[in-house]
Amino acid sequence: MEADREAQEAPAVDLRRDGAAALEWAASYLERVRDFPVLAQVEPGDVRARLPESPPEHGEPFANVLRDLDEVLLPGVTHWQSPRFFAYFANTASDAGILAELLVATLNNVGFLWRTSPALHELEEVAMSWLGQLLGLPREWHGHIEDTASTSTIAALAAAREARPGARVVLCSEQAHSSVDKAARLLDLELRKVPTDDEFRLRPELLSLDDACAVVATVGTTSSAAVDPVPAIAEACASAGVWLHVDAAYAGSAWTCEEFGWSAAGVERADSLVVNPHKWLFTPMDCSAFWCSRPDELRNAFSLVPEYLRVAEEVVSLSEYGPALGRRFRALKLWLPPRRLGRGERSAAEQGQRDGRGLPLAHPARRPLRAAARCRQRAHDRGRRAVGLGGAPALRGGVGSTEPLEAVIFDLWDTLALWPSESFARVKRQMARHIPNFERVWDVTYNDRQTGPIEAYFRALGLDDDALEHCLRLRTDFTRAALVPREGALETLDELRTRGYKRGVISVCSSDVEEAWDKTPFAAHVDDVVLSCAVGLRKPQPEIYQLACERLEVRPGECLFVGDGANDELAGAERVGMKAVCILPPGRDEPLWPEARGWEPTIRSLEDVLTLV
Ligand SMILES: Cc1ncc(COP(=O)(O)O)c(C=O)c1O
Repeated sequence: MEADREAQEAPAVDLRRDGAAALEWAASYLERVRDFPVLAQVEPGDVRARLPESPPEHGEPFANVLRDLDEVLLPGVTHWQSPRFFAYFANTASDAGILAELLVATLNNVGFLWRTSPALHELEEVAMSWLGQLLGLPREWHGHIEDTASTSTIAALAAAREARPGARVVLCSEQAHSSVDKAARLLDLELRKVPTDDEFRLRPELLSLDDACAVVATVGTTSSAAVDPVPAIAEACASAGVWLHVDAAYAGSAWTCEEFGWSAAGVERADSLVVNPHKWLFTPMDCSAFWCSRPDELRNAFSLVPEYLRVAEEVVSLSEYGPALGRRFRALKLWLPPRRLGRGERSAAEQGQRDGRGLPLAHPARRPLRAAARCRQRAHDRGRRAVGLGGAPALRGGVGSTEPLEAVIFDLWDTLALWPSESFARVKRQMARHIPNFERVWDVTYNDRQTGPIEAYFRALGLDDDALEHCLRLRTDFTRAALVPREGALETLDELRTRGYKRGVISVCSSDVEEAWDKTPFAAHVDDVVLSCAVGLRKPQPEIYQLACERLEVRPGECLFVGDGANDELAGAERVGMKAVCILPPGRDEPLWPEARGWEPTIRSLEDVLTLV
């Protein structure tokens, strides 16, 4: 009864108030997402069992919905937005793309004819042209947006069937995506799989095109990112008059980066092409970009204009080029990310630009589209290999680097210096006398303390001047006393220098370490130190490793990272291209941190580093 009364009094939906709460939820989710287990932690049926079987009699406050989102739905969510998600493909919904979805739903246009939304039509043409330019495609191609690559391939094969009546065979490699099988089945075409070479690429000399209407070549196959030899396939198709469709759903986004441009060779000769911007081009699901160099054939396959869709104006509607009639305003979400990020011929990092705090301008929020896409692609491919999902690294330039070692970068706490837990417990007890709820606030503000001045943090807790000074002194004295080299630390650092290696430190720590650093024994034995509190970055953010590399003037592939595994630092180092080794706490057979358990290689002492270089 009580719940019923409350429900009856639920205020009407208020877009401003509820919308603000939804945006706050979204922003906070994205801040927290890296901390969730990536895979949903539920058994089949768990989520359904926690939801009411029928809709409520009366409307409920929006807060109830957000509560259920947190408590009932989130445990059943697999976090595709997590930077630790390495399965399938990187699908990156940028802030700009997320906001675009809000605007799309707000306008709620149904663009089946040009006149039902001229802006939708013309923006779609512009956004597709922008993307085409970023990918280096011929300017004159017709381009429009489909929901998925599966639909784009259906459209392509329908046009191919129309273009070569009587020929009903489609060829693709045995590594092609199952969406090709599905399209052939739907269109009543016969699919023939062509064998591949030892790098999983279609063997063009085995193409037999007599009764074929289409060949589907793949740039970036699903299992291994293999790139079919498109120039040779295009030549064969052109001689036989057969339609060439290129499925670059996964890897086409790579063409935004010049170093992957080789994989676009021959694509300019295709009759149609699909690239999925919802795979690592910052556009939320779903957005599949489809181009065609023979739009008349496409229109022949799909144009159907009943009486109620006839209009006076001489404008062709995009619905005449594909299977669907209704069309969402997807163009907005394809258009917003490049507008907000900028194309970035050279990334700010490459130009050595820094902001007011001395951070490289390549920080994610400021990174132009090209550099961000490059970074995302490499991180994802590295992660896929790390978790065993990738195959042969045909397109994966940075993977499996064998560059010679130039530098060894160490974690600080529990790597170069042992964290004195007992004396810290004593300091905490003393600080607790001045700070209400000390245990709880201390733990929940861990991240803030590591990336800003510790004094500001104490002030935010409301300490008066005396208490503040006292706590600061306690903490600073503790840190000075604790920064003692672990056994063998200085000798190992010196031997590394003798052998010609640069030596760096990356530490997640608060500003008391920064203050004490110059007077510690370490300062004279390393070439550079990157402290989270000084640079506003934490491990395992890629930028903190990249910054250390910049300062040491080495590339990540030239570095060995040594750490005890806290803050997921070992995987973080490997994701940017370093080799990472786990150092065990003295006298233990296992790392302290769950994320480092089972890590290979593992060493027991700092001197062991010398056996690895
Ligand atoms: C090469 C390739 N083609 C097609 C698809 C299908 O994409 P969609 O889910 O957009 O239909 C995928 C999916 O990952 C793919 O990797």
